Amino acid sequence: MSNAIKRGGFSSSFGVLTATLGSAVGLGNIWKFPSLTGANGGAGFLLVYLLATLVIGLPVMIAEITMGRAAKANPITTLQTLSPKKGLPWWLIGAGGMLAAFLILSFYSEVVAWVFAYVFKAIGGSILSSDRHVTESAFGALIADPVQSLLWQWGVLVFIGGILLLGVTKGIEGITKKLMPVLFVLLLLLCAVSLTLPKVGEGLAFLFKPDFSKITAGVILTAMGLAFFKLSLGMGTMMTYGSYFRDDQNIPATTLRVMLADLFVSMLAGIAIFPAVFSFGFEPAAGPALVFITIPTVFSQIPGGQLLMIAFFALAAVAATGAMLSMMEVPVVILHERFGMSRPKATLLTIAALVVLGSSCALTNSLLADFKLFGKNMFDLFDFASSNVLLPLGGILLAVFVGWVWGRDNFQRALSNQGELQNAAVTSAVFFLLRYVSPLLILIVMLKGLDLF
Ligand code: PFF
Repeated sequence: MSNAIKRGGFSSSFGVLTATLGSAVGLGNIWKFPSLTGANGGAGFLLVYLLATLVIGLPVMIAEITMGRAAKANPITTLQTLSPKKGLPWWLIGAGGMLAAFLILSFYSEVVAWVFAYVFKAIGGSILSSDRHVTESAFGALIADPVQSLLWQWGVLVFIGGILLLGVTKGIEGITKKLMPVLFVLLLLLCAVSLTLPKVGEGLAFLFKPDFSKITAGVILTAMGLAFFKLSLGMGTMMTYGSYFRDDQNIPATTLRVMLADLFVSMLAGIAIFPAVFSFGFEPAAGPALVFITIPTVFSQIPGGQLLMIAFFALAAVAATGAMLSMMEVPVVILHERFGMSRPKATLLTIAALVVLGSSCALTNSLLADFKLFGKNMFDLFDFASSNVLLPLGGILLAVFVGWVWGRDNFQRALSNQGELQNAAVTSAVFFLLRYVSPLLILIVMLKGLDLF
């Protein structure tokens, strides 16, 4: 019986915050946010992303966490518990979430693999060069080497799996409590250095002055996808973490804090990166190369650059760890609770599945370079399919579930901690957004962005 399994949980309010923020903050802030903002015209994109976060992200995040805490179970069981006895198979949202988790982890773990490799390369000094050709070929050599790509990826999976084996309280909560403060210190240090560079104004203007001519339906979909990806929504991650929340935790307040802190980290990452990029004459629209080629080239030209580079990649590794923990926890807890596996067994099986599936992304730049589906390599396909299709789809279904199936009374009771909190206005507003606004808006953006109407 799944109920018979003793569940772990977050033991303190600070732990709830660091674990949840640890999930939201990740390579999304350091790799995706700056490169997508760069590629889509800067501040205009930022504005759309902000709107998507407020109108769609925040309500969906509150919905997921509230559902998880109400049912105190993995995503599949949560949907089964909260839905009426007879009716549609809503638990499929949980199963879809597990699929999305595997797809995202497959490519995400490869980028994390590059980040971990770069921490060591920064320490060893091999990527310290102001000559772009040198940094470019260093990155090219890493991603084109199948053995290195696979080994780093497997190393990352085993490392994260090892933390998960310590359990929810000691592993996830314990580690994120230690890592999140380190992340802020490193980020503030990098920002302080970046703000002393010559072209600060140009970099900040790029980030904060909107150019609306670049905003198309595709760009709006990308911004919305980023909002989902950033806040770890639409795949049961926040639902799973919600199930570890304490009963007296104020969910709307915690969610708002996490959203703002996550945004703050993205802004700081932008402030750390763009002035540096402009000051040394680079183009911001450089995709993932921004982090792995431009950053090393730029930092090599700043006094103390090697230390800064170590700090930068350590920061990225720290951020990625919290996010990976939350993603892997979804299949682990489902296998553990639904299929009665022990946590170690569930973790090992998740790692094994990712070793197989993830290799299609790890080998994208070597053995599988010519293998394409729908015109995309596996890395880009998994990224696109998860951020722009699966996560928004999960978001629509979750919003519809809360707004039309679970219903206002249950939602309000759970969100007000059974009447302990006087937050009727907030819960009504969130409920309204979930029932009417979020599903329609997500659907329109998705269909338009995918060119389906
Ligand atoms: N929010 C993480 C980031 O921005 O890097 C990525 C992520 C974590 C996506 C967990 C989805 C998820 F369920």
